[in-house]
Amino acid sequence: MDGNGRWAKKRGLPRIKGHEQGAETVREITTFCANHPEIKVLTLYAFSTENWKRPKPEVEFLTRLLERYLKNELPVYMKEGVRFETIGDLKPFGEKLKKRINETKEATKNNKKLIQVLALNYGGRDEIVRAANKACQRGVELKESNFDDFLDVPGLGDVDILVRTGGEMRLSNFLLWRSAYAELFFTNTLWPDFSPKEMEEIIYEFYKRERRFGGI
Ligand code: FPP
Repeated sequence: MDGNGRWAKKRGLPRIKGHEQGAETVREITTFCANHPEIKVLTLYAFSTENWKRPKPEVEFLTRLLERYLKNELPVYMKEGVRFETIGDLKPFGEKLKKRINETKEATKNNKKLIQVLALNYGGRDEIVRAANKACQRGVELKESNFDDFLDVPGLGDVDILVRTGGEMRLSNFLLWRSAYAELFFTNTLWPDFSPKEMEEIIYEFYKRERRFGGI
């Protein structure tokens, strides 16, 4: 979800206004995906292991925004049939946010239309290292076929479509294991301007691509 800061700057607003508008886009895209018959999982990169480098007020604003979002969003999760999950290491976040996260997971655990996964303090390499350590501690030999069991939320499956907004053409440490065969889409649209219509265009384009998974 890249481009919140630039969206705000273009309008002469502080960066945090871009994050606020970005949260609105999260709601719209989540509702769109929950009502799409073939989308089962939506993973959103909300805070990376590198985002702690940002100025403290911006980090604090993002965590408060997240808390507020989860509080306001519960009726939407219930109405739209969305189960809430997170990936990433939640340890460094404040107790209030962690409590809200756990309550939201518990309240939505039986919802079936979509799993919305927020990547929080997430890094793909970090997830892989933690998975390897978990396996090691349990005395399990890692194989491609059992690696998923040790990821932050097992069973989410491989990524089909990976979208990056905001014009940069890199993965920035996102879902490194699960994206091995993902179809990549890069758009110049800034995240707050991203819309269900553009998502539909991406899905349309996805179905036109030939996926060979290494075969011919
Ligand atoms: C990247 O844009 C965006 C983030 C680091 C934060 C993403 C957060 C949200 C979309 C809102 C909160 C999330 C939820 C789930 C309510 P940037 O700030 O790097 O933008 P820039 O590249 O234009 O500076």
